[in-house]
Amino acid sequence: MKIETLLANLALNSDFKDPYGASHFPIYNTATFDLKKQEGNDRIYDYSRSDNPTRNALENIFAKAENGFGCVCTNTGIAAISVLFEMVLKNGDTVLVENDSYGGTYRLLKVLSEKNNIKTIYTNFTNLNLVEEELKNNEIALILCESPTNPSLKIIDLEEIGKLSKKYNTLFAVDNSMATFVSQKPLDLGADFSVFSTTKFISGHGSVTAGAVVSKTKELHQKVRFFANAYGNAQSPMDVYLTSLGLPTLVYRMKAQEESALKIAKFLKTIPQIKSVKFPALEDFEQYDLAKKQMNIIPAVLTIQLENEETANLLINNTRLFGKKVSFGTSDSRLEIPAKMSHATNSKDSLASKGIDNATVRISIGLENTEDLIEDLSQALHKN
Ligand SMILES: Cc1ncc(COP(=O)(O)O)c(C=O)c1O
Repeated sequence: MKIETLLANLALNSDFKDPYGASHFPIYNTATFDLKKQEGNDRIYDYSRSDNPTRNALENIFAKAENGFGCVCTNTGIAAISVLFEMVLKNGDTVLVENDSYGGTYRLLKVLSEKNNIKTIYTNFTNLNLVEEELKNNEIALILCESPTNPSLKIIDLEEIGKLSKKYNTLFAVDNSMATFVSQKPLDLGADFSVFSTTKFISGHGSVTAGAVVSKTKELHQKVRFFANAYGNAQSPMDVYLTSLGLPTLVYRMKAQEESALKIAKFLKTIPQIKSVKFPALEDFEQYDLAKKQMNIIPAVLTIQLENEETANLLINNTRLFGKKVSFGTSDSRLEIPAKMSHATNSKDSLASKGIDNATVRISIGLENTEDLIEDLSQALHKN
């Protein structure tokens, strides 16, 4: 079944058994279930932290969409990453992480280093020799990367990293928040886990914060489920519902957003105050071929370098349609300065080593009319 078909009929494709044939899965906003009323059912529920029919329905959809064995839906995207860390890592373990990662992941690893002596080695995953060198010289419990990375938009060759993870017998997780399962399938490329924030493209309307962990095997999935329950990391049925409303349109939104983002990227390249425009769908993007090979749809996130901080502030403070907001992938367009906002917890040195400073702006393109967005960016840059 193609992804559009899977997402178009969630009640049917989630295998939700509803006696009334509801066309959308019902919201079971209940803490407990009466065991006496479930005799003969093939799945028994007792307490919503552990398991809930509404949450299960979404988990089934995500597991199918990612070609995984099973899924656990969590409170937020970062909660998906934290349950993965809780499950995989023991005190003193080492994690190998791509050096351009979301600020919240960086913060969580810093906490774990101080609290549980978890060591993180950051390296550039676009250089496979560097990755292999670290795997050779250290006992790595888990490899983690995003692709495209946030905010530098590097494309990581997931298949090659997957091969290295097998060669060195270590677990491999991909943060698939930006591309989503609509665009790329990490588990098919050799990852053991696909973790993602559904706050972004997947729910798509900026109305909920939530996340998910999809595991490739039954054994890994059962462990994630156990830890999610043990730590009380359970997505509420209401959040499941809000997330599900975005799914039938996900493919079409992402395609429209890509098309608009490409036009906007081309426009931004003509602006003298903008030194560089990164967008993987631009033909002169350094890793264009890999981006096109690995992703069906290029997620509509652009990272641009302005001539200086003043111009970046001019742009960010004077747009009318683009909110000054973190996050991406929503129907409304937004822009932010990662060094001051989404990635403020990363050290200035680490950001500088990747060319990210106060003149770097990340732009998320939404579903507004493209010409309106171009006009808005243009007027903001010309304000005195
Ligand atoms: C790549 C990536 N992963 C994970 C997260 C965390 O997701 P959430 O904000 O839903 O906790 C974010 C949030 O911006 C992100 O950009």
